Amino acid sequence: MAIEKRFFGNLDENTPIYLYKITNAQGASVTLQTLGAGIQSLCMPDRDGNLADVVLGFDDPKLYTDPDYGYQGLTVGRWANRIRDGKFTFHGRECHTPQNQGSWTLHGGGRFSFTPWEVAETGDDYIVFSRFSPDGEDGFPGDFTMTVKYTLTQDNVLRIEYTVNSDVDTVANPTNHAYFNLSGDPNKTVEAHTLQILADAFTETDASQLPTGVLSPVKGTMMDFTQPHPIGDRIDEPFRAVIDGVGYDNNYCLRSRDGSFAPAAVLADPSSGRKMTVVTDLPGLQLYCGGWLSRDYTVGKGDSLVTYRRGVALETQFYPDTVNFPDSFPFWYVKGGVPFTTVTEFRFTADA
Ligand code: BGC
Repeated sequence: MAIEKRFFGNLDENTPIYLYKITNAQGASVTLQTLGAGIQSLCMPDRDGNLADVVLGFDDPKLYTDPDYGYQGLTVGRWANRIRDGKFTFHGRECHTPQNQGSWTLHGGGRFSFTPWEVAETGDDYIVFSRFSPDGEDGFPGDFTMTVKYTLTQDNVLRIEYTVNSDVDTVANPTNHAYFNLSGDPNKTVEAHTLQILADAFTETDASQLPTGVLSPVKGTMMDFTQPHPIGDRIDEPFRAVIDGVGYDNNYCLRSRDGSFAPAAVLADPSSGRKMTVVTDLPGLQLYCGGWLSRDYTVGKGDSLVTYRRGVALETQFYPDTVNFPDSFPFWYVKGGVPFTTVTEFRFTADA
């Protein structure tokens, strides 16, 4: 089935945002938006074949550009997650990145998420978005082009391939910030979803959620998702690396950290049977359950209220602030003139 394009809305009078919908033979579909090369909707079947949208979001592109609304479904670049004090040194060059949250950088400052991307190419089952970022933009080295290719396969796999080209050596940590609610009902919290993460350790963090450099075992703590169990079981337990009332917002150190493409997590919703397996070649996964989203938002898609803990983000990534731990955290950088690629898949199935 051919890709369908339609107008989504205007960011301002000169900035239209478009949607591109890919549908497979089973009727499953993904709708991507040019704003932030983002996922706007993802319709997947439950155990009876009923399709429902399994990602949170909005009906108006402008709402996506409010950082307090949580980067819903958007691509994050150049560097996902946190950079302490908005600075790091790379190949002897001191880089100063936006201190857009507290004293640190969050999600590269937000520019990659909150601006429109070019559409470089489309096919029946894929689209490629592209964004050029000049040397020094937001402090990062290199004339830098990122492309994001989304493919929806016939067997309900959403594949995301990020490719970076830079003229000189630089750093990149692209991710996607979709919030999944596999029940298809954004008024239900994700606490009844079961989760398994193939990780035996997590990055210890300080009071500002910045890594200390220590990797600690999950065993015996609320962080342990080595066996599948409901997210809500221990989410409100007091724990040193979790902010009270927020719940999980932590980076897991995946078992596979050598760049091989391997399963990272399995999320399942017992009520609908929908299940999603995350596969990636990156070494980390941020588990974030929407605990910073306000408890009283009154916006969402349709008449849904997008609120606290209504979605779970599983952000594949290099560990937060790796640019300040390049020798101790697993890391490979972008080599000048050599394409850098990373792939994440969200594979959907349904349990009987
Ligand atoms: C961060 C959260 C943040 C959210 C939305 C996540 O990756 O870890 O702390 O609130 O993104 O910006």
